[in-house]
Amino acid sequence: MSHRPFDDSPVHPITRADGVSNEIRIQDGHLFVCLGCCCGRTDKGLPPVPLDEFKRQWKQRGIRRRFHLTISGCLGPCPLANVVLILFRGQAVWLHSINRPEDVGLIYDYVERMLRQESYLDPPPELAGRRFERYLEDTATPCCTATELW
Ligand code: FES
Repeated sequence: MSHRPFDDSPVHPITRADGVSNEIRIQDGHLFVCLGCCCGRTDKGLPPVPLDEFKRQWKQRGIRRRFHLTISGCLGPCPLANVVLILFRGQAVWLHSINRPEDVGLIYDYVERMLRQESYLDPPPELAGRRFERYLEDTATPCCTATELW
């Protein structure tokens, strides 16, 4: 089955607050790899982050225009090092203990499956055991439509 090419993402015009018009790519998702105060800190007795592998595969797989990679400062859940956050079409997937180069391949294979499907998928079994929740879910029942609020 054919899928949208990995380098095909729509471009949208945006005007900044200073009046300058520009364009940005509207992407499917984003991977944040934590390299903060704890993740990857071997001097604190934690495993290294396979950082070069994250960068290498991101470029090699040709997904850059649809899926962004950011090496970040502390994402928060330090005791679970090494932590990554995958955002895909509004869904958040937090993973811990991403220590080995093989884990990087599992993550990008998972991302590629979502890119081909054009939709969020739950993580594969090899990663699901390292998933954790980080955000509260919205339990409020909507009381009214947006137009009723105005
Ligand atoms: S340093 Fe990675 S979560 Fe804090």
